[in-house]
Amino acid sequence: MKTTFGQSTRGYPKIVLLLRPPGVYRADSDTSLLIRVLREGGYAAGRNVLDIGTGTGALALAAARAGAASVTAVDLSLRSVAAAWLNTRLHRVRCAVHHGDLFEPVAGKRFDLILANPPYVPAATNMLPRHRITRCWDAGLDGRAVLDRICTGGPALLAPGGLMLLVHSAVCDDDVTLRRLADAGLHAEVLTRATVPFGPVMRLRAAMLEARGLVEPGQRDEELVVIGARHAG
Ligand SMILES: C[S@@+](CC[C@H](N)C(=O)[O-])C[C@H]1O[C@@H](n2cnc3c(N)ncnc32)[C@H](O)[C@@H]1O
Repeated sequence: MKTTFGQSTRGYPKIVLLLRPPGVYRADSDTSLLIRVLREGGYAAGRNVLDIGTGTGALALAAARAGAASVTAVDLSLRSVAAAWLNTRLHRVRCAVHHGDLFEPVAGKRFDLILANPPYVPAATNMLPRHRITRCWDAGLDGRAVLDRICTGGPALLAPGGLMLLVHSAVCDDDVTLRRLADAGLHAEVLTRATVPFGPVMRLRAAMLEARGLVEPGQRDEELVVIGARHAG
């Protein structure tokens, strides 16, 4: 029920205690890497922040603690919405938490900063899971089912000069993300990369990923990439 995130030995953010009901994503190295970029870049201070796919609320909490003017969080999973609501309140942080599909609950609003650690693990099928923990990571055959929707739908919610920070594995191709964001009118670049060992899901899928040429034979680590995409303003 409880989880921690952050690995201070690798320069990642300090550990924060979060409640995590079954079925909610355990904040992991992707979460920590995005938080590190957020803090080091000073991107949240004074900004109106949206956390898409909030899970436990780890990113929303980090944004609030980094001085965000307001924080809004969205998740498709009711359990995640409940967890994020509880965690932000337990940490005495103001955060509006919405249930729904990506940008739908906040349609028509504008944010200075959008954070996303979406599902990005290539799956056996293009069918997206609806009711299980797997919806935290399964993202279609190429791992881009949710990521591509964020690249195309996110820019409309960015205020002039606003920034989107995205984290995902290089296994689902960061060049494609950069192209999609540029096509949507943003100036996008890779802000940081970090190599981490495969987690349990990637380990289970290693043979499938090798067979599809998405990882090298014997490869058992992956590169995480944080991409920043700025609205021209
Ligand atoms: C990899 S987890 C990240 C959780 C958290 N942001 C973190 O970094 O620890 C992805 C999250 O996206 C949510 N999600 C998946 N598809 C979604 C969708 N279409 N709309 C909103 N949230 C979604 C999942 O329920 C899950 O909480």
